[in-house]
Amino acid sequence: MRGPVTLSLVLAASAALAAAPAPDVGTDAQREAGKKLYEVNCAQCHGEKGDGEGIAAPFLLPKPRDFTSGKFKIRTTPSGALPTTQDLKRIVRAGMPYTAMPAWPQFNEQQLSDLVYYVKSFALDFAKAERQAEPIQIPSAPSLSKDSIEKGKKLYADLGCAR
Ligand code: HEC
Repeated sequence: MRGPVTLSLVLAASAALAAAPAPDVGTDAQREAGKKLYEVNCAQCHGEKGDGEGIAAPFLLPKPRDFTSGKFKIRTTPSGALPTTQDLKRIVRAGMPYTAMPAWPQFNEQQLSDLVYYVKSFALDFAKAERQAEPIQIPSAPSLSKDSIEKGKKLYADLGCAR
């Protein structure tokens, strides 16, 4: 019995690996350009070493992200997975409202990529093939039906929305 089960697990695992995108960590030149931008614009909060311990950090709550941890809040990837390059570019461009993380609309696409490749270089996991993740596919919303209204009515009551 164990043979076929083990085999199918191995097949599933290799299929998942084959589907995973290749690590996207940029070139030396891109990371070097990103480093220059980072040291001028980001290091005072995120620290020269990317550990979240910049000179402003003791005064900030939430604290600046520690990039060496490889943990990020705003991602399109599954829970526990690393963000994509696009995810990081989006958050740097938009900032994080109600925190000290500013928006950076002044950077063009290339500067954003350079910055993000440098940020990624603080956590080794970004270069590992097995840690790459695809964005999750969000299915379209269920269409309106009598049944869905009934379900909503029940949830509305069960969760105490009326209160
Ligand atoms: C004034 C301080 C400050 C500066 C300057 C700053 N950040 Fe941040 N950044 C923060 C804080 C604070 C957070 C965490 C917010 C939170 O946890 O909700 C953060 C979070 C982030 C995140 C994590 C997003 C996520 O999904 O978890 C990234 C990436 C980031 N910053 C990149 C940058 C880059 C690149 C620069 C420079 C262009 C920069 N930051 C400059 C304060 C700063």
